[in-house]
Amino acid sequence: MPRHLLSLLLAATLAAHCGPTAAQSLLVGSGSERKLSVDGRPFIILGGELGNSSASSETDAARIFPKLARMGLNTVLVPAYWDLMEPVEGEFDFSLTDAAVRHARANGLKIVFLWFGAWKNSMSCYAPEWFKRDSRRFPRAHTESGKPLEIASAFSDNVFKADSRAFEALAGHIAKTDTAHTVIMLQVENEIGMLENARDYSADATRLYRSAVPERLTDYLTKNRATLHPDLRARWEANGARTNGTWEQLFGPDEYGEEVFMAWHYALYVGKMADAARRHTSMPLYVNAAMNSRGRRPGQYPSAGPLAHLIDIWRCGAPAVDFISPDIYDPGFASWASRYATCGNALFIPEMRLSDDNGAQAFYAIGEHRAIGVSPFSIENGSEAGKLGKAYDALRKLTPILSGDYGRHGMLFETAEQEQAWTEDGLRIAARHFFTLPWDSRATDGSTWPAAGAVLIRLAPMEYILAGTGVVLTFQGEDEVTADAKAQAALGEDGFAANGAEGREAKTPRWTAKSRVGIASVDEVEPQADGTLRRVRRLNGDEDHQGRHVRIGVDGFQILHVKLYKYK
Ligand code: DGJ
Repeated sequence: MPRHLLSLLLAATLAAHCGPTAAQSLLVGSGSERKLSVDGRPFIILGGELGNSSASSETDAARIFPKLARMGLNTVLVPAYWDLMEPVEGEFDFSLTDAAVRHARANGLKIVFLWFGAWKNSMSCYAPEWFKRDSRRFPRAHTESGKPLEIASAFSDNVFKADSRAFEALAGHIAKTDTAHTVIMLQVENEIGMLENARDYSADATRLYRSAVPERLTDYLTKNRATLHPDLRARWEANGARTNGTWEQLFGPDEYGEEVFMAWHYALYVGKMADAARRHTSMPLYVNAAMNSRGRRPGQYPSAGPLAHLIDIWRCGAPAVDFISPDIYDPGFASWASRYATCGNALFIPEMRLSDDNGAQAFYAIGEHRAIGVSPFSIENGSEAGKLGKAYDALRKLTPILSGDYGRHGMLFETAEQEQAWTEDGLRIAARHFFTLPWDSRATDGSTWPAAGAVLIRLAPMEYILAGTGVVLTFQGEDEVTADAKAQAALGEDGFAANGAEGREAKTPRWTAKSRVGIASVDEVEPQADGTLRRVRRLNGDEDHQGRHVRIGVDGFQILHVKLYKYK
């Protein structure tokens, strides 16, 4: 059976396994390799998150959702606002979330609801007014100086009961009413984290900070010592890898030790929130984090959120949460994404800065890290004619193949990176930004280089799918002599020497390799739902530099079927 059909088998297996009445959305597989299955089929979230206030009236949904569908999204991330859902204590109004579901369905979109509950970007601005006004019943976090913050206390039963009752009501309502399975995941709170200090300094918090670290956590540390995140392990071991003692004794007296304490209590709280939702749904539940970037310290960034270096604390404290997710607004997308695709975490990027580079970034995250999905923020401000739609179109067509069990390599060239090279099957494969070819005037006229991103999927030995934007790949036998690479780089667009002076000075060493690798064919293809590849056009001649390389320009996204061969 052709390997392209394997992914279909996976889909069929899921369908058979889950049955028609099974959970609409679930994670299959284990660790970082987990994949999302929706209605029994592999599903990659080609998403976008609404701006914070764009789900607060049905008119907005009616206006925005058709545009999102035209932009090629399959999923929209939508805030569910606690203040508007429970304006009167104990009385729930689901009209906004119901409207979002209706409009999503009408436009063929799935929804991920974001619970803007007790915390949103650390703060408690989405708590209902009756909650905000009653700080005796619903206490706040305090700074070291004794200042109360508009951050609800993670140590208060009353806060938890009010918040979780509303979140559970939402989960229960969705389970009862969303019979078409439009809602596929829930995000619990939004970018949790303590500000100004690394931990809450209220009296309740300080009492717990001075008491013993619970056995549940010390047992976890002991049992999982070998696989702990290296930062946490180093901190714990530097303090003697103790299995009993106070937070200070186990994790040190500094703000990073305080952060571990605070993360534990946020995680316990969120873990119980997730348990409450789990009573109604088995769909994936996750948490998102603002990054600890730009040299900031805990409290300067939202301390103790679900950050990579705290993954073990969150995992132990909140086992019902399926994964932690980065919101990536900083430069260095690949590096931030990679940190959340390790330690058995499944990568999902619920927020990334909206830009023309999102398509390339999506190809990298999904290609390299098998991400569950990606989602630029304030998506309603994106352009219908922009590059994202083209990227999503290509990724949607590729989904059956991406969901298969093929080896693959993702690549992203954000700025100055010149080449990524790796070896497999006796081949040396080198990838570069398309603008390292000097043929496009934008490469050298001072234009900003757009991000280039792609995935190379190995269908079989010497047979690949290359998909994405802005890359050029060369294939050589590992033993091929590269002494003439300089002369080759100087070749003009038609494949002849660019000018007579190039490549003459070096004396070519004697050829010793057993054989050379050539390009048998490059076809632009459209993968079909049954896993077969429909040829759109043959790319040869100038389009593969007369058989020297495979490339995709920067202005669009392509899916190429590449076959290699050997010659002597
Ligand atoms: C991250 C938050 O999660 C979003 O809700 C929004 O506030 C953005 N930051 C704004 O950049």
